[in-house]
Amino acid sequence: MPKAVGTFSLDIHRKYHSDFSELRYLTFDIPECGSCKVKFDLRKGISDAIDKDQESIKQKMLDDMLTWILQERKADNGSIVDLQQPLRPLLTEFVCFRGLLTALIFTPYENQEGWKILATKFQNTIYLWQIKEQRENGNNFSRNPRNAKRMQEMTMWGFKFEQYLCSATPDSIPDPRQPLNTNAEFCCVLKTKLAGKSLLYGAEVDALQKECQPPFKNLENFVELKTNRHIETERQNDSFLKFKSMKWWAQSFIVGIPKIVVGYRDDDGVVSRLKTIEVKQLPKESQGFWEAKIGMNFCQGFLEFARNCISKDSDSNIQYLFEFNPRKRTVSFCREAGEACRNLLPSWYVESMQE
Ligand code: A3P
Ligand code: MG
Ligand code: MG
Repeated sequence: MPKAVGTFSLDIHRKYHSDFSELRYLTFDIPECGSCKVKFDLRKGISDAIDKDQESIKQKMLDDMLTWILQERKADNGSIVDLQQPLRPLLTEFVCFRGLLTALIFTPYENQEGWKILATKFQNTIYLWQIKEQRENGNNFSRNPRNAKRMQEMTMWGFKFEQYLCSATPDSIPDPRQPLNTNAEFCCVLKTKLAGKSLLYGAEVDALQKECQPPFKNLENFVELKTNRHIETERQNDSFLKFKSMKWWAQSFIVGIPKIVVGYRDDDGVVSRLKTIEVKQLPKESQGFWEAKIGMNFCQGFLEFARNCISKDSDSNIQYLFEFNPRKRTVSFCREAGEACRNLLPSWYVESMQE
């Protein structure tokens, strides 16, 4: 079970706060198992919603994780640094965000979208970051402005759904009329071992069960929230099992979140049914479509590959690029040449770690 070693909040301007200000509680009453009927209009107020600042995300790369690491070293509470020698290098082999791990786990089944991962090694820790490109290479469908607008609106539906179920305190009720700004996030920092390799990674989390309070040692009391179109035919069910359920599983499994609350919606964004899914059931229900072991093996294999490729250098000025091509089904590797807008590790981090 991954261990939760810290948290931080990002406000609506994506500014870092070392507090619980963006933690949300699941305060809507949901049956433990089975499903219940609701009526949530995900379109309500959506035209005023503010979407994630992609430019800020691209510029900041791993910075929020790095800020957390530096604060933790100063606090010296022994969770990630050696208690006897608090200024020793970070005692973890890899630092990244959870989204990168989810993408790696899904790679054996990915036949549409490639990925690019930027990597650097510093003081024996490998830092990994997924370069997300604007989809100018999108397909004919998404290039059509009308379709693009609809896709953008549907992206906001997932966040609107969170507003219907969550509130900022455990004793208040959800208020979906609140302005929606998807820049705000509550993140957990986790530590785990994968095939003997130690990982430290950040993950945005959706909601904590209202009976629980921070601090927490793991994420067993958190829930992941998801929306999905109603599944009415066998074909739709197969499509869910083939393209979506492994991503859902990987995203929650890798942080130790046991439950997903799903809101089933129609094409107009009206959710009429809620259902709680056990994360551990997903691989069983998806037999014949994907195997958890295949995904985890690929993820571990990639980390090993990255470690071998980078083994000689420990210099944050040297960066590497790993690229997955879904058509050729290859992962290529090169010394990075100008893909990223800046070094993955900023000088304020490197200098502070050398003090
Ligand atoms: P849904 O998953 O309910 O559609 P997460 O579920 O990971 O907490 O993300 C919250 C919401 O962000 C998603 O809600 C979806 O609306 C949007 N989102 C996340 N990843 C996305 C992606 N790769 N493409 C489009 N939208 C995405
Ligand atoms: Mg989320
Ligand atoms: Mg979610």
